[in-house]
Amino acid sequence: MTEEKRVFTRSQAAQARLHELVPGGAHTNARGSDQYPEAMTPIITRGQGARVWDVDDNWFVEYGMGLKAVTLGHAYEPVVQRVSEAAAAGVNFSRPSVWELEAAERFLQMVPTADMVKFAKNGSDVTTAAIKLARAATGRDLVAVCRTQPFFSVDDWFMATSAMPTGIPQAVRDLTVSFVFNDIDSLRTLLAAHPGRIAAVVMEAATGTVEPAPGYLEEVRALADDDGFVLVFDEMITGMRWSAAGAQSVYGVTPDLSTWGKALGNGFSVSALAGKRSLMELGGLNTDEARVFLLSNTHGAETTGLAAYLAVADAYAERDVVGIMQAQGEKLRAALTNAVAAAGVSDHIAIFGRPSALVFGTKDHEGQPSQAFRTLFIQELLRHGVLGQSLVISAAHTDDDIAVTTDAVAAASAVYADAIAAGTTDGYLEGRPVAPAIREFAAPRRLEV
Ligand SMILES: Cc1ncc(COP(=O)(O)O)c(C=O)c1O
Repeated sequence: MTEEKRVFTRSQAAQARLHELVPGGAHTNARGSDQYPEAMTPIITRGQGARVWDVDDNWFVEYGMGLKAVTLGHAYEPVVQRVSEAAAAGVNFSRPSVWELEAAERFLQMVPTADMVKFAKNGSDVTTAAIKLARAATGRDLVAVCRTQPFFSVDDWFMATSAMPTGIPQAVRDLTVSFVFNDIDSLRTLLAAHPGRIAAVVMEAATGTVEPAPGYLEEVRALADDDGFVLVFDEMITGMRWSAAGAQSVYGVTPDLSTWGKALGNGFSVSALAGKRSLMELGGLNTDEARVFLLSNTHGAETTGLAAYLAVADAYAERDVVGIMQAQGEKLRAALTNAVAAAGVSDHIAIFGRPSALVFGTKDHEGQPSQAFRTLFIQELLRHGVLGQSLVISAAHTDDDIAVTTDAVAAASAVYADAIAAGTTDGYLEGRPVAPAIREFAAPRRLEV
């Protein structure tokens, strides 16, 4: 089955047209054509479970699953059904709808460490809202972000720290400072350097590849209590992937605020800011303080996203979605590690991370991380029916999907081994290598690391 020949003619034409019409040729940088081999940029027509189809009618087992937003699988029937019912009842009214009440009740049952919740549409918006509440509550101006974690928001307070700060005034850049994960002294030093000025510390409690060291999160919590900054956990990825109650429940450390999105709606647009009543009420009516304009948007409570969330919450209550992802991820890791070893490239291709959020690492013949070899691996996977920049799984990945992936990784590893022996991807890789999605310059000549 994996030997079918895949052509990308229509995708190439559609991608070229997208580049003419849309800056970057995609609506998210991480989905851009620069993240894929030059002649293999599938434009998707539909998805079902763990598989997607493109305009050339190629099928692929997909990984990454909508930037980790899809944990139940594409077109998951109970979610589609609930969303369709909501859509048929009208989606946007002049007063709150029953979906808002039901979703809030459900979320706060699911995340008992939070007192209140406010829904929105994008993860960035709720994380930015957490910063605003923190600044209002503390009267401080600086934000401390964890610089060894990749991403928190499209907004200026975070992008100022990234490789793409263009368009952000220096005055704004100066308001964000950073620290290192799992290094409590780096946070202590930062607090000492800016006494009484840090309003919020924003971090993920864990990432797919780095777990918190024993006691680290507790120490961060104690620093927050001592110093008075607001501790914000970004649960965008960990929420619904580590646990439906978030990483805060897995590690037993409660932040002041937490921010959610991605898998809350199995791909539908819904995000959430949750946390302590004393903070959240600053954005409400039950306060004597000056009011914070908190997450007030035309589409904030549009009902299909909330309906999707309710169906997702049901699915997580009915079966152990996280447990399934963990189990299938373990199987995937074991099978792929064997396939890589059989091709003799274990020193060059690594499969690692939390089973529900696996990634692959690619090194060249000298053992250095290599974008060219990464691209070659992605190219060969695409040829053999696997689409992915990672191995992030969903609960819809079946044993058959894992078998297809294992065959594809075996085939890709064989080509990779030849390129390693040759000491180059020349003659194996078609086109230019991929490049980091967040980089200062677009030009390919600046891409290779
Ligand atoms: C950890 C984390 N936080 C926040 C965001 C921003 O979420 P959104 O893209 O929904 O604005 C992302 C997006 O990738 C993320 O990975």
